[in-house]
Amino acid sequence: MATQHHASVADPLDRTWPWAGPEFTGRGSPRPAFAPPPARIGRFRPIRQLATGGMADIYTAMSEREDGAAEVVALKCIRPHLETIVQARTMFTHEAHLLSAFDHPAIVRPVDVSAAETEGHFAMELIHGRGLGEIIHRAEKIGLRLPMRLAAAIVIAIADGLQHIHDRIVDRIALDVVHCDVCPANVMIAYDGAIKLVDFGVATSRWRRVDGRVLPHGGTVAYMSPEQCRGEPLGRTSDVYSLGIVLWELMTWQHLYKNLPHEQIIARVARGAVPRPSTFGAEIPAELEDIIMCATHAVPSRRFSNSAAIADALRQLVSAEDPAALEMWMRLLFH
Ligand SMILES: Nc1ncnc2c1ncn2[C@@H]1O[C@H](COP(=O)(O)OP(=O)(O)O)[C@@H](O)[C@H]1O
Ligand SMILES: [Mg+2]
Repeated sequence: MATQHHASVADPLDRTWPWAGPEFTGRGSPRPAFAPPPARIGRFRPIRQLATGGMADIYTAMSEREDGAAEVVALKCIRPHLETIVQARTMFTHEAHLLSAFDHPAIVRPVDVSAAETEGHFAMELIHGRGLGEIIHRAEKIGLRLPMRLAAAIVIAIADGLQHIHDRIVDRIALDVVHCDVCPANVMIAYDGAIKLVDFGVATSRWRRVDGRVLPHGGTVAYMSPEQCRGEPLGRTSDVYSLGIVLWELMTWQHLYKNLPHEQIIARVARGAVPRPSTFGAEIPAELEDIIMCATHAVPSRRFSNSAAIADALRQLVSAEDPAALEMWMRLLFH
């Protein structure tokens, strides 16, 4: 797959789109050297900057626990130039609050969100692994493709995580969460094979309703649903659509919108109609193609009605994956 250059919402020179997380700058190029981190951020000592996105910087960081042990976390910090922008602060605090409302193995776990509102940072489990975008890129570079069953296992795990967030009820009230930015960069695979969805930075919920278009800030417009592109209210099937595009790309091993500028992608997605993977030469079972076409239907009510349904459909097709297989793949790709 060719690395695409595209103007992201936040940074017109962002070359990370569409596969890679912000820590990765494209084919063959080294990871960016970040400036040394500040000595302290709240009660944490940042060690190394992992990534920078449109809204936040991510560090590995340490803190002392009460029992004297060191705690290692991923620290997400709102970027300094956004600290005074109310809408950005609101979104950041909302992300931290949401994380605290979840409890699922496929959703990144919060560690300490108490300073999110006051100091603009929160701590979460450090996922020792890589973004799916980077994994695909790496596999491509050394001439490997993730086997179909592994790709399906990743999508099943994320679908399970999405079902959890979509169904979340707090104080007897449905939260109505929509992630709004399901894309390869926000799916992380740990070296031990764990699969995790990260980045609730643009998520919507009962706690943060959004009028108008919810734009992802990582330049991941290629995964947005037609209704998201049109600026309409979003329901859970919008995330089903985005996950369907991830599956489409994992099965065809191609970018759906190759070399198209951002505005044209939005215009094209808004019109609907995703091409069948087989027209792109993908050799996949017809049932799997039907799953992809159903998930990415232009009309929300014609898609799987929830994420569990797409996970169930995939489980019926693909035999249960041994978790050790992903770990082996990570070893193969990154050692
Ligand atoms: N808990 C975590 N552990 C390790 N790496 C992480 C974690 N959360 C995010 N990252 C990495 O940092 C990148 C940016 O984080 P993300 O939350 O997606 O921020 P942004 O909103 O800027 O996209 C991710 O794509 C991923 O590579
Ligand atoms: Mg992100």
